[in-house]
Amino acid sequence: MASIKPGLKKTDDINEEIKKTTMAQRRWRLLARALTHSSEQLNPAEEEISVRRFTSFGLVNPTLLENAPVDPESSWYEYSCVIENELFIAQVRRINKTFTANELIGFNNTGNVCVWPSEECLAYYLLNNQNICRDKMVLELGGGMSCLAGVFVAKYCGPAGVTLTDGNVTSVDNVRCIVARNNMEDFVKCGVVQWARAAAALRQSANGNRVQTTWCSESGDDSRRTEGLYDVILSADCLFFDDVRLDLIETIYGWLADDGIALMMAPKRGTTFQKFAEAAVKRGFLARQMELYDSQVWSRHLELLQHNNEYSADLHYPILLELTKQRNPSAS
Ligand SMILES: C[S@@+](CC[C@H](N)C(=O)[O-])C[C@H]1O[C@@H](n2cnc3c(N)ncnc32)[C@H](O)[C@@H]1O
Repeated sequence: MASIKPGLKKTDDINEEIKKTTMAQRRWRLLARALTHSSEQLNPAEEEISVRRFTSFGLVNPTLLENAPVDPESSWYEYSCVIENELFIAQVRRINKTFTANELIGFNNTGNVCVWPSEECLAYYLLNNQNICRDKMVLELGGGMSCLAGVFVAKYCGPAGVTLTDGNVTSVDNVRCIVARNNMEDFVKCGVVQWARAAAALRQSANGNRVQTTWCSESGDDSRRTEGLYDVILSADCLFFDDVRLDLIETIYGWLADDGIALMMAPKRGTTFQKFAEAAVKRGFLARQMELYDSQVWSRHLELLQHNNEYSADLHYPILLELTKQRNPSAS
């Protein structure tokens, strides 16, 4: 057997290091490409590490609106969905712009890149279960540039009121355009809500201080939290942010009515989903995780697993996490 001199590495170790270096180089090339606005085609290895290759379950589908306002940085789409022969449609503006380096390193821009599959599945689920939001005060957190689920709820589910939010000002400005174009300004509010700020205000008020209800003064946004709490809180693909996990949970806990329900749709993304669910239970929620919440979504998932190499259940299949408040949190 060949002996290896101290200080020299085995071939396997060297190969492993080369693999890691090449992977790191590819990641940097992807980032550089985003920063330099290059539209050059990704090579297959680079595509392999881009998680956006799978973009939709094909349940709520966009068609470009040719006669909509023209703007180099955005396009209008008609999103449509058919459930039991009934057609649901909403006009949605999508941001096309390439982000500057400053924007990319500024507040999280993941919601301006695309409408994520979790948002699509949440919209579909709510259209299929319209009673959940009927006559209810509904809040969407982290809805990105479309707040697609909240928009469909507003249009078709007969809520008492809807508030659409994200922490990113560009996303919220876009959602305002969507709300106006779908003629929903009289009963749909939009606002910038950053979970860390909302949670800090809630913690302060729990300590006996006055709550600051302005969501984000920095952005010049004058939206205010509606009087009273929300009956239904929605979010899609927002559970993977390690640094604001507890802030998001605190915001939901503070703004949800005692008999309300939060519906969080998100893929597992490693251990992030689980960590969120566990932290939510620690905060005083009852948590119910459902993989099979809709037969259509489930059958698409099974088809994709069999026929689409780009589909990864861990990154793409949204699980539904239902949070309700524990009646007696200290007893759990
Ligand atoms: C993966 S995107 C999902 C967007 C949208 N729900 C969708 O599925 O298309 C995550 C969203 O969370 C928002 N977000 C991230 N950190 C946040 C924070 N601290 N406060 C509020 N929103 C935040 C981002 O702006 C982004 O829109």
